[in-house]
Amino acid sequence: MTKFYTTTAIDYVNGAPHIGHAYEKILTDVIYRHFTQRCENTYFLTGTDEHGIKIQKTAAEKGISPKEFCDMNAQKFKDAWKALDIDYSQFIRTTDEQHTKIVQKIFKKLVDKGDIYKHSYTGLYCSGCEAFLSEKDLTEDGLCPNHMKKPEVIEEENYFFKLTKYKDAIIKHIKTNPDFIVPAFRANEVINQLENIEDISVSRVKSNVNWGIPVLDDAEQVIYVWIDALSNYITAIGYDPDGSSEKFEKLWPADVQVIGKDILKFHSIYWIAILMALDLPLPKHILAHGWITIDQTKMSKSLGNVISPTSVLEAFNLDIPDPLRYYMASAAPCGKDGNYSDEDFKEKVNAHLANSMGNLLNRTLSMLVKYFDGDIRSEFLNKNELEKQALETVKEVKHHFDYFEVQEAAQKIIELVDVTNKYVTDNAPWTLAKEEKMDKCGEVLTNVLQVMTVISSLIYPYCPNIASRMAEQLGYDLNTKLDDITCNALKSGHLIDKENIKPVFLRMDSELADKKK
Ligand code: ME8
Ligand code: MG
Repeated sequence: MTKFYTTTAIDYVNGAPHIGHAYEKILTDVIYRHFTQRCENTYFLTGTDEHGIKIQKTAAEKGISPKEFCDMNAQKFKDAWKALDIDYSQFIRTTDEQHTKIVQKIFKKLVDKGDIYKHSYTGLYCSGCEAFLSEKDLTEDGLCPNHMKKPEVIEEENYFFKLTKYKDAIIKHIKTNPDFIVPAFRANEVINQLENIEDISVSRVKSNVNWGIPVLDDAEQVIYVWIDALSNYITAIGYDPDGSSEKFEKLWPADVQVIGKDILKFHSIYWIAILMALDLPLPKHILAHGWITIDQTKMSKSLGNVISPTSVLEAFNLDIPDPLRYYMASAAPCGKDGNYSDEDFKEKVNAHLANSMGNLLNRTLSMLVKYFDGDIRSEFLNKNELEKQALETVKEVKHHFDYFEVQEAAQKIIELVDVTNKYVTDNAPWTLAKEEKMDKCGEVLTNVLQVMTVISSLIYPYCPNIASRMAEQLGYDLNTKLDDITCNALKSGHLIDKENIKPVFLRMDSELADKKK
């Protein structure tokens, strides 16, 4: 693998980020960080989607300009991702000048090609979806099923994109590339949607929607949000119909584009058709994740149960986002819905990160210091009974990530932690020390620490701060690529610094953590 380019959906900025948005960014960041451990040239794009009628209206209600409103809210997303250690390479805003300029050129190219044409139209518009809906999309009461709102009847002359021209090619692509849509069970849904596809409106009359990118050579029309929004994935990295940048040539096509299941249609149909029309290669995978609920109910402003990710960090007085990252990244099997609850969060994170993983490292290091002054002697390196299991786990974790199974990979890591804990219990190094079987005792402790170096590498994408604390105490180089992992990184003569040993993560209800509250 020579490069890895991943993207997230770009969020609407009409509100502040909630943990559903955070889920997607964490998932993508974990995938991204995993692949930085496997290849050199990696890139991670995220950002905000800032045009459209919703933003225009909300800004007007607040009595500020749409741009001021976007500036304010885009910053909230950036702040949240910083607090969560989302290590994106670039944050694109659809109001960026470079983006708007290239979107205009893309639009023009499609007009020139005959793939975009002008057409009078009466349609049902849902501003929640920022999309026209067809009658059969609606509920029995004529409401948008996603937003439970009656769509507006809009009669306009708009530009239309010839989606129907690409229908057969898209169906063929999906059928011949069963791993294109992840998880695969969603591919059928998309095929069904494709059966009834029509050409789509891609512009709005300026007198109705003015907060958008103007169509070149047609002052009356603005480019409607989805062509604008979807193009971000290529404009950000230097696509230009008149000649793209070297960076674009190096990174495109994306390796995986991460989105929520509600916008799969836009990504696996509209976006693919646009790329085909531009004669560009298609992304290798579209990962459609599931929905995050709060205490098993849908998050919504009217229910007042919208949770912001930073409020969780504050409520639990966390100085690192790792616990929330770990919890969210393992909230659901690939593509399925997941749930957030305070209780479950606390319980799972305490059990896995503090009790099982953190404690294992802490007591093993402490015993090595107590019995051997922290010295790993050559006679301890005779037989690494856990090596096979650890290396097998590395293989399994890589395999899961090849299919973007982030939760499943986390489970494998925790299984390795459990096996290692059992190894300690079974071999009881404290008893070996009491019986003065010192070589065997040192061997058991060293075997465990060797596995802990592997575990620090594997847990890094989920818990970068905890992993680096682990690696530091072990004297292990966390930059080791997954392909180079050996499970014998600790060499004879290696000395554990006893001054350095402290818990890598405190239980969230521990005395110390409580005191900080
Ligand atoms: O759809 N659980 O923006 P958006 C999990 N601007 N994921 C959730 C979620 C939840 N409760 N709520 C939202 C848009 N998401 C467009 C995208 S991309 C070119 C344009 C996810 O702010 C949602 O599925 O409504 C989507 O992937 C992302 O958050 C942004 O949603
Ligand atoms: Mg949405």
